[in-house]
Amino acid sequence: MDITKVVIPSAGLGTQFMPFAKAIPQEMLPLIRKPAIQHVIEESIASGINLVCVITSKRKQAIANHFDREDDLQALLEEHDARNALSTVHKLTKAATFSYVRQTEPLGTGHAVMLAKHHIGKEYFGVSFPDDICKSKIPVLEQLMRVTRQERASIIAVQEVPRSCLSSYGVIGIKKQITPNLFQISRIAEKPHPNDAPSNLAVVGRYILSHRVFDALDRMTQYATQELQLTDAINDMIHHNERVFAYKMQGVRYDIGTPLGWIKAIIGTALQNPAYATVIKKFIQEIDSTDSFLYNPSKTIEHGP
Ligand code: G1P
Repeated sequence: MDITKVVIPSAGLGTQFMPFAKAIPQEMLPLIRKPAIQHVIEESIASGINLVCVITSKRKQAIANHFDREDDLQALLEEHDARNALSTVHKLTKAATFSYVRQTEPLGTGHAVMLAKHHIGKEYFGVSFPDDICKSKIPVLEQLMRVTRQERASIIAVQEVPRSCLSSYGVIGIKKQITPNLFQISRIAEKPHPNDAPSNLAVVGRYILSHRVFDALDRMTQYATQELQLTDAINDMIHHNERVFAYKMQGVRYDIGTPLGWIKAIIGTALQNPAYATVIKKFIQEIDSTDSFLYNPSKTIEHGP
């Protein structure tokens, strides 16, 4: 079973990151040197998916620009001894074919995915939300693709989260536990009150979906009065007797949908990177000491000779 396409909904307003997100898309927030969306597309390529459909909007030109070739800039960088500065982007643009579809109004993740309908045939395809950055030995999309091939069904990545955080996520109801990490789901409760959450397994923004999700989205648009969420369409598929599974992803997930999550992601990725890890660890350990660069009135001034 070939799974070759991924849809990346990136047309949200970026409310959590205003005013930063006024002129720069939230998806371009940097994690060390690469923008978040580049990490997400690298995960797709590493999973063997190389047709990338980004759902974008009028204010988000920077995304397409980032993945474009810029020969003038490359020439300048070469003059400044930085020949390889863009190599990760060039690798991606060689490996992937990009298409961009404009969402003219922010009408929800379901509406965004529906705009990719004409790019998808009668096949399974990936959906990755750029708010979620996943780092793992086996890329998370690939982990999901393995289950789709085995079960011939749609599958969603999930992760255990503390009960107090469940109201920020879609939370799955478990119909049947198949293995320690694989579940058939009965429904998804979108952003439930912690007391009403059907489990503590939260949806991570990685999905492999059957093309039948478009039938569900079509059905739903007929009576949608507000934003159409992907969760609604998945619930509708289950309601129409479609089997949908959840897989407890193996790896680390950073939720960069909020400033706090983004700060954690930067610290987390820096701690995984040998170029920064030692200095950052030392920096954190010293924050409360007088060696910290942060202002501390008990610091003493050392006079030279
Ligand atoms: C979306 C989904 C939610 C999922 C989350 C993962 O919510 O609707 O089910 O748990 O992504 O990041 P959003 O973060 O867009 O509000």
